[in-house]
Amino acid sequence: MSVYLVGGPVRDLILGRATTDLDLTVAGDAVGYAKALAAHLGAQLTIHAQFGTATLMLGDGLRLDVATARRERYLHPAALPKVFPGTIEDDLFRRDFTVNAMAVRVAPRGEELLDPFDGLKDLSGGFLRVLHAESYRDDPTRIFRGARYAARYRLRFSSRDRQLIRGVLAESVLRRLSTERLFREVKLVLGEPTPEAALKVLQDRGVLRTLDPALAVGNSAVAQMRRVRHAWQRLDRLEMSSSPRRWRVYLLVFLCSISPTVRRRVGEHLGVKGPPLDALIAELRAFRFLQTQLQKQSLRSSRLRHLLDGASTDLRMLLWTSGVKRVRDRVERYLTHLAAVKPALTGRDLTRFGFPPGPKYRRMLDRLLQERLEGRLNSREDEVAFLRRHFGRPR
Ligand code: CTP
Repeated sequence: MSVYLVGGPVRDLILGRATTDLDLTVAGDAVGYAKALAAHLGAQLTIHAQFGTATLMLGDGLRLDVATARRERYLHPAALPKVFPGTIEDDLFRRDFTVNAMAVRVAPRGEELLDPFDGLKDLSGGFLRVLHAESYRDDPTRIFRGARYAARYRLRFSSRDRQLIRGVLAESVLRRLSTERLFREVKLVLGEPTPEAALKVLQDRGVLRTLDPALAVGNSAVAQMRRVRHAWQRLDRLEMSSSPRRWRVYLLVFLCSISPTVRRRVGEHLGVKGPPLDALIAELRAFRFLQTQLQKQSLRSSRLRHLLDGASTDLRMLLWTSGVKRVRDRVERYLTHLAAVKPALTGRDLTRFGFPPGPKYRRMLDRLLQERLEGRLNSREDEVAFLRRHFGRPR
């Protein structure tokens, strides 16, 4: 039985890049091999019986996927393939790009590189090349995958690949992808380290305008995506939590640069629908309102706090990086100072002072907060005096 390291990890190994996801292909019984390996390494094992694959978690986030070598057949363009057991050569032939179709034999030992499609040459030449002329038609998601690799590894589609892509786009193959599959690819694109570069590739290859005539990534969106990234780096340095769904912020930036009249349609053409789309549209509407408010010459701190408390983390990021200095400064003041301001007194203090518990507490504490934010109250004593003045003597 032979075991091979295949695909992405081989590519990353050759490029000297760190990887935490390893893929092993076994010419033989993958699940049996995975069980033996997990027992040997003391790793946590999950078996996916219906696919004949298994996953080992090796600690430190290192993940090892084990699969049986297989052959694939596509019965229709853009359909999911039918899978049969096969040789390692079959397994490499079913893959997307030459740079992903390399394997290293790891058992029996020998560390032999299998590179039947000259992936090594393409990797050093900087080319993305599919293995056969039907590849993009079989699986149009490969166009998106290619754009991601192009951006991530600074590769470019070969001239034949450009021609093949033009051909399948003209045949409207993208329309055959389900919205779920399309959206998955869009999320992966937006989840790349530099999504604007991947989007530019999709734009240059005509993919964006094929999805929707109004879909384009302009210079201002590109610039804002870069600002978003810098903002996250700052937040990370400050150890302040930031959005866990980074793709979503990039999607907001992207949609924000598109005319409000066609945003919903464009969102749908990117595979977003239902409540998630409604939420995006509502946030973009709120963005316009908040952008106007935050640009006003005078804006009280309490009002700023109120406005941004009501905005989502993603929306605050959109405002912070929108490129208007006054807005940026105000969001920063909120994040670094105003968001954490609170009165020294609590509901428990109000009870201790003898105020009868009830909805009035909310009003009292809100007033205290407001006065604090405006800088009119600076200590606990100030707050007690304020309460006496405005809410009368406690019981
Ligand atoms: N693959 C493919 N066509 C697809 C999806 C995957 O040919 N539509 C192949 C590719 O050869 C890829 C391998 O399956 O190398 C594993 O897929 P995936 O984990 O998505 O890709 P990686 O190359 O590991 O890329 P990434 O670093 O983005 O995870």
